[in-house]
Formats: sequence, C-alpha cells, structure tokens
Amino acid sequence: MEKIYIFDTTLRDGEQTPGVSLNVEEKLEIAKQLVRLNVDVIEAGFPISSPGEFQAVKTIAENVKGPIITALARAIPQDIDRAWESLRGAENPRIHTFIATSDIHMEKKLKKTRKEVLEQAIYAVKYAKKYCSDVEFSPEDAVRSDFDFLCEVIEKVIEVGATVINIPDTVGYALPWEFGDLIRRIRERVKNIDKVILSVHCHNDLGLAVANSLSAIMNGAQQVECTINGLGERAGNAALEEIVMAIKVRRLGKDLGINTKEIYKTSRLVSSLTGIVIQPNKAIVGDNAFAHESGIHQHGVIQDPSTYEIMSPESIGLTESRIVLGKHSGRHAFEKRLEELGYSLSKEELEEAFIRFKELADKKKEITDRDLEALIKNGFKESEEVIRLEHLQVVSGLGIVPTATIIIDKKGEKIKSINTGNGPIDAVYKAISEAIKLEHNLLDFSLRSVTSGTDALGEALVKVSDNSGNIFVGRATSTDVIEASAKAYLRAISNLLTYKERTGD
Ligand code: KIV
Ligand code: ZN
Repeated sequence: MEKIYIFDTTLRDGEQTPGVSLNVEEKLEIAKQLVRLNVDVIEAGFPISSPGEFQAVKTIAENVKGPIITALARAIPQDIDRAWESLRGAENPRIHTFIATSDIHMEKKLKKTRKEVLEQAIYAVKYAKKYCSDVEFSPEDAVRSDFDFLCEVIEKVIEVGATVINIPDTVGYALPWEFGDLIRRIRERVKNIDKVILSVHCHNDLGLAVANSLSAIMNGAQQVECTINGLGERAGNAALEEIVMAIKVRRLGKDLGINTKEIYKTSRLVSSLTGIVIQPNKAIVGDNAFAHESGIHQHGVIQDPSTYEIMSPESIGLTESRIVLGKHSGRHAFEKRLEELGYSLSKEELEEAFIRFKELADKKKEITDRDLEALIKNGFKESEEVIRLEHLQVVSGLGIVPTATIIIDKKGEKIKSINTGNGPIDAVYKAISEAIKLEHNLLDFSLRSVTSGTDALGEALVKVSDNSGNIFVGRATSTDVIEASAKAYLRAISNLLTYKERTGD
C-alpha cells in the first residue's frame, strides 16, 4: 500500500484561527500529543511572525523527537534565516517556503511579474537548501494559478532541490473532481515530479476541504496537510481526524501511520488549549458523533453496533464508561477510569486529583468523563499559584448594580478590593485588577459548560499579555462559574508574575 504522509499544521495554520493564540508551553504540549498520534510532519509555526512564535518552534524542534519538524517562511532570505535558526536543533528539520503564483495574488498583493515570482521561488529554494536538505515549496493559491505557469514553477524549484511540492487551495475554491484532476495533471505534466513528495493543503471555505484532500489522494497526492478539529484561517483547514478515518473506514488502500486511538484525546486537548469548542455534530469527534437518539437507532445499536455505527467509538480512543462515578466511588474506580481515559498520573498527582474528585462529587451527583477530563486538565496549578483567592462575594440581581468583594493572598499579603461592573464577572475582574496592581492586558475570557445540567462544571479560560506581547493563560473549573472565572484570571496573572520573576523583566 502506498504511504500517505500526514502533515499536521494545527500549530501554524490552525493557530491562524481568529481568536486563537497559544503560548510556548501549550504548543509544546500539543506537539507532544501529535507525536503520540504519530503524525509524520509537525508544522510548528511561522518563526518570523513574532519572538514568541520563534521560541515555540525552537522549543518544539529541540524537544520533540520522531516526526519531521517544519516551519514556514516566505520566499525571502530573512524569513528563511529565521526559520532555520528555530529549526536547527530538530532531529529531522524541514524548511517550508512559499510564494503566490496566481495572477490575482502576484498583481494585487506581491506587485510582481510571473518572471520575478519564478526567480524568487528558485532563489528561495536554493537559499533554503544551503541550510537544510529537506525543503518544501508551496505555490500559494495554486488552484487559481495559470496551469502552465504553475507547472513551470514546480519543475524549476524541483530542479534546484525542492523535496516536497505542496499544492494549496488557499481560498478553498476547488471542487473535489477539479482538485483531483489538477493533481493528476500536475503528475502527468511536470517531468521531474516523481523526484518529490506531492502534497496538498485544502481550506474549507466551501466545506470541501476534506473531500478535496481525499480526491487529491486518490489522484496521486502523497502528503496531506491538515489540522486537528479542522482549525485554521476563516472556515479552517481540512480536518485531520476526518481524512484519517475516511481512509481507514472506507479502506482506500493507503498506508497511514496514525494511531487513531489518540484522535479523541488530541481533539479535546486542542479544543481546550485553543478555547475553540467543537460543535456537537462535528464528524468523528463531536459529542453527538456516536450518540443515538431515536428509539429505532438505539434498538439497532443494542442488537449490533454496526447497524448505525460505521466505526467504533473505541477506534478513535473514545471509551464509554460502564461505571458511574459519584461520591461513593472509591480510589480504585477513580484510578481505573482515568487509566481507561488514557491518563497516567504520578502518585502525588493522583492523590491531588482524588481530593478534587471528592470535592466535586459533593457538589455534583454524577461525575462524567468530561468532568474528569476538566478536573485533570485544570487541576494541578494550585501549588504554583502565587496569588490565591481567599474570599469572594458577589451581590447581583435584577435592578442591582453587580458588586464584588474579593480578598486575595499575594505571597502572604492579604489584599481586599471592592468594585462594581456590568455583570458579576465584570465586577469581580475589576476588583481583581485593582487588587493585583500589575500592568497587563486582558486578551480573552471564555466560559463554557463542561457537561449539561444545572450542576454542570463551568470551565473558564483567560488569556492575558504583558507589555512585550507574551501571552499567559489561566484555566479553572468549578460548579460556581463566578469562582471559576476569578480563579482562571488569577492563574493567568500568577503565570505572568512567575515569568517576570524568572526572566527579571
Ligand atoms: O493556505 C495556504 O496557501 C498556506 C500556504 C502557506 C501553504 O497556508
Ligand atoms: Zn493554509
């Protein structure tokens, strides 16, 4: 069977999702999970775009072993220098350089002629080759490019050493049969194409990114670029989990290295770190993907799951609990369930998690898998906190100005603050901001329910930045959403303070 290389660009194109901004630790955590998923290539970022991005790529390059690590660079020396600087510590580095080849992009954006673009592409690949033997080249907006010119560019960059040619549908314009045809025609026309890996990169503006990627694979593409949960610019990129499961379930005769049992966990991790919630009816990883509502369906699935399930939940790593955890559950059942969900905790972590579990079980009748995931994800920060919430009281109601009173403990110093706001959370945040007296920008706040029901856990996610643009994240869960919001804010601030102390900024 022919091998299809899975190129994950969650950390680069996926991070270009509006509102998403991951810090170095979060990117590293995702990269490590992508290793467990066994992707072939990780595009770790676009190093020239910011110092934080550069640091993230460098950290991943130096610490993540196994897959090829690549970074994006425009077809200009400064970008390529920066990409190489960040990648040089990688076990298997690859430079990914690109320039647009469609008339509309060349005229309107680059203000360059075809001849100039061709020369720049050749120069960039030669330049990148001085550093790294593995160089990927992407003719941006390939789908809307003149076919003859596109083929000329591809042929010339292969002559000077490109090892991977990636065909992007940058604006998500292609239809599946057209895109498959384009790949087939490139294969037929470009005489040295068999010297490289032919790759595709599809955007989802018409909801066709996965269909286009599959059509390309069936017409000779050997690498597919995709993101977890389909994150990405505008309507996103092709979703990794959908491409992989389509190839597996429909036995398309292609060899994939992906460990599908890690799909669910990877999807949840990316969702929780990016704050982008997965729609319930999302294929493969949505909450409803394996839920059966109608009686007829339920009856069928009980008789034989294959009546209404074309793949098993277990195949993506989703294991349904047969045991309901609650306040009477013991340590053993708790530990076993965590193991089934794929968590392996140290003795101390397990101890701490069990205490949190019992606290939660006192407030909530049934503890679901989602609750456990939130408990583990958000649980181990308390000891690192340099600011703790000691007291929180909020008065709010119809016709009342919401007023919050807080007392925080900042390294032993107790600080009290009272403030009002447009709502209870706004009042709490103003009170906290006044109490901590630290310059920062509140970039993002989101609150979501982990499970359903009025006693559900609320998960708050907060992002703050310092004046140099470094981003710090705080997360917290509680059945009391105001408490979760306050704690998440304080955790983000604690992370900022710890960083300041460490770097002396
Ligand atoms: O969509 C696109 O064209 C890209 C390229 C940089 C590969 O992301
Ligand atoms: Zn893209």
